[in-house]
Amino acid sequence: MIRHFKIWVTTLGLVLAGLILFFAGSLYVGGCSYHNNCVDGGRAQFTHTPIATLIPATLPANALPFPSSSSSDNCTVTAQVLLSAWVSAGFSETQAFNFTDLNNVACEASYTDLQPLFSQSNLWYSGSLACTDCHNAALSKAASAQLDLNSYAGVVAGSHRSPGSTTGVDILGGGDWQASTLNQVLFVTHQMPYGLPANSVPAGGPTILAGLPLAVVNATPEPTPSGEEIARPNTPGGTGSAVDLTGDPVVGKQIYIDNCQMCHGTEGKGDVLNPGTDDGTVPELNPIDSTLVSSDYSTYAYNMDLFIQNGSRPAGVNPSRVMPPWGSQNGLTQQQIADVIAYIINLNK
Ligand code: HEC
Ligand code: HEC
Repeated sequence: MIRHFKIWVTTLGLVLAGLILFFAGSLYVGGCSYHNNCVDGGRAQFTHTPIATLIPATLPANALPFPSSSSSDNCTVTAQVLLSAWVSAGFSETQAFNFTDLNNVACEASYTDLQPLFSQSNLWYSGSLACTDCHNAALSKAASAQLDLNSYAGVVAGSHRSPGSTTGVDILGGGDWQASTLNQVLFVTHQMPYGLPANSVPAGGPTILAGLPLAVVNATPEPTPSGEEIARPNTPGGTGSAVDLTGDPVVGKQIYIDNCQMCHGTEGKGDVLNPGTDDGTVPELNPIDSTLVSSDYSTYAYNMDLFIQNGSRPAGVNPSRVMPPWGSQNGLTQQQIADVIAYIINLNK
């Protein structure tokens, strides 16, 4: 009985060992056929266009408006209108191109305005990858369709491009937007962005803020104060030697009170009537006419001295008060004029 049992157990053990060997052998033969040089179990090697599958774990909030620098001045436009205007205008990197925005405003933009359509994630639909997550500079391996949408050069060079080569298959239709591959995959067959859920992207692509209204672009800048004509006396004559002297503003204050205040007001604040003139008042000296002001002291003194040396008759039919010629008629010495100039410049600081 015990002997029979031993034989039985031994037989069972041998049968099991045989089964295991047969199973392992059949695995090898099934994978590698009857040769001994097979790698990786001879599993079929798949060749496929790589697709990035790393979806960001946390999706940022939906990305309108963009770029972050955009402002309320920007035009509102769909990706389709922006891209077609750019391609149709000859797809320049630097030249501006025109388009009409959703509010019917005539606008202009340049390449930099549309690059974010390729490189910004979460733009074409909520949670979308950026085109550049798949189409990037890694042409030798990871870049889908061997297309690099990261730069102007890459976009223009096209798809199915060997690394290092600057020419691939044109995706811009040579400037014919309707015929272009870009238009086809985005707006005709709706293949891109690859993996888009059904009905996730509006027909014209996302609406973005880009470019500027032509009215803003062409607005003439405000005339600068430096462009204004500098006020000059209507009496001819040059400056005196006062402009070469150093004035003392403390001394100048008393000279001002004694000789100038009756017409130009306390501390130069004006408000003195001058009937018979176009202005109606004597000009104030504090603040002084901005065209006379200069950051360069000698220019500032020069502008004032022309009036003080030679005097000036204000415009008008019959001026009651006329600026006297202090220098040319020796009403004041050149040093006194230098002092009063220093005082007025001090008042205007
Ligand atoms: C998830 C990866 C992925 C994303 C994101 C993606 N693509 Fe693609 N794209 C592909 C793949 C893969 C192909 C090749 C498809 C094929 O051959 O059938 C392709 C093909 C293309 C082609 C055709 C190239 C050619 O000449 O055959 C264009 C153009 C294109 N994509 C543009 C874009 C644009 C523009 C975006 C963004 C709006 C985008 N793709 C987003 C993976 C992606
Ligand atoms: C009798 C009145 C009178 C007195 C006194 C007088 N001014 Fe004048 N001043 C005028 C009038 C009027 C003008 C405007 C001249 C013009 O517009 O052509 C003027 C113009 C000026 C200007 C040019 C200002 C501008 O904005 O165009 C300066 C500078 C000036 N005066 C300085 C002085 C100084 C300094 C004194 C004293 C030493 C003085 N004035 C005394 C009447 C006077």
